[in-house]
Amino acid sequence: MQLRIVTIEGQNPTLNSIRITNQSRGFPMRLLGFMLLFLGIVIGFSIINMFKIRYLGDQNMVQGVHTLMQSCFRDPNSLQDWIEPPSTYMHTLDDNELFWRASFHAQIKEYPFKRSPKIAFMFLTRGPLPFAPLWEKFFKGNEGFYTIYVHTMPSYRAKFSSSSVFYQKQIPSQVVEWGMMSMCDAERRLLANALLDISNEWFVLLSEACIPLQNFKIIYRYISRSRFSFMGAFDEPGPNGRGRYNHKMLPEVNIGQWRKGSQWFEANRRLAVDIIKDVTYYPKFEQFCRPACYVDEHYFPTMLTIQSPYSLANRSLTYVDWSKAGAHPATFGKDNITAEFFRKLQQDHTCVYNNQPTSVCFLFARKFAPDTLDLLLEKSTQFFGF
Ligand SMILES: *[C@@H]1O[C@H](CO)[C@@H](O)[C@H](O)[C@H]1NC(C)=O
Ligand SMILES: *[C@@H]1O[C@H](CO)[C@@H](O)[C@H](O)[C@H]1NC(C)=O
Repeated sequence: MQLRIVTIEGQNPTLNSIRITNQSRGFPMRLLGFMLLFLGIVIGFSIINMFKIRYLGDQNMVQGVHTLMQSCFRDPNSLQDWIEPPSTYMHTLDDNELFWRASFHAQIKEYPFKRSPKIAFMFLTRGPLPFAPLWEKFFKGNEGFYTIYVHTMPSYRAKFSSSSVFYQKQIPSQVVEWGMMSMCDAERRLLANALLDISNEWFVLLSEACIPLQNFKIIYRYISRSRFSFMGAFDEPGPNGRGRYNHKMLPEVNIGQWRKGSQWFEANRRLAVDIIKDVTYYPKFEQFCRPACYVDEHYFPTMLTIQSPYSLANRSLTYVDWSKAGAHPATFGKDNITAEFFRKLQQDHTCVYNNQPTSVCFLFARKFAPDTLDLLLEKSTQFFGF
């Protein structure tokens, strides 16, 4: 400002040149002045408002600010905060962090709130779920009694609509190699993610080629009323059973404890925690059970047989046809989709349920070819009662 006044009055050419430059700056300077004034007014109003809220008690505004703060930084100040499941399945925990977090286990058996125990359906897949429409039909009307978790190839992105039960049910996944420890890692990852939801009580492992053989209510009742977890575990003589045992697993595992079983298990919450927290047997199996020892057929059955033999039903709920020789089970095609075929799967077996003999031994079956979907959907009421 000073400079400007001087230049208007002065005749000095040097000052004149200054005048020109400064006049061009004069307008922004004035603008800056206005802006500062405006800013001052705004700050003034804010301060007045803050005092108003504080001393005159504008409750609505205080509450609004409070809710906003709460949704950003929820501090655990009510039971609800502790028992609510994570709002999204996506997280940045690595396996060590995840398993550590998931291994938190309540020691008091009675829940101090109304808990409706759920079955976690855990799908171990490469990517697509060809039977998703059948599962949708199966789950319909049973909300509140199940949760869903899907492990895929890490690069796979499912495209389910927001109305689907599979919408945003993918967990952070990693590469899985058939018959290797990475398979068990994926199963542990599914268990750990599902354990983060305190309402999950039973954990069922399924593949993309699995279908349900009964309706939801029957499956829920069968699993929830069982005194045992359905982990296949048997002592098989011969090269594909005991033949896969390695003496280097001693002393943690001896040949008499060695078990084989289908990978498609059902486990309760306690066993699920036992599986993800294990650091005793894991290194032994990782090191000494490699193809032709298929670790996913031995690790959980053997470990749980050693730790909790009386908690195991020693059989799987998932029907798999191994009658054809080879490393992979039979795949059922369109020709197999008949009422007679399913009646046999559902009833023509004998097994033990809660120490009583029964003919209902299987609740799920695999493997089904994707092109059987339409037929299964069309006849699901007749075949499966849903
Ligand atoms: C399962 O097998 C174990 C031994 O491996 C046994 O102790 C347990 O009683 C069996 N479970 C049932 C339900 O028979
Ligand atoms: C499934 O269908 C194929 C082809 O018709 C047949 O060979 C096979 O025995 C059937 N499997 C069962 C378990 O019925």
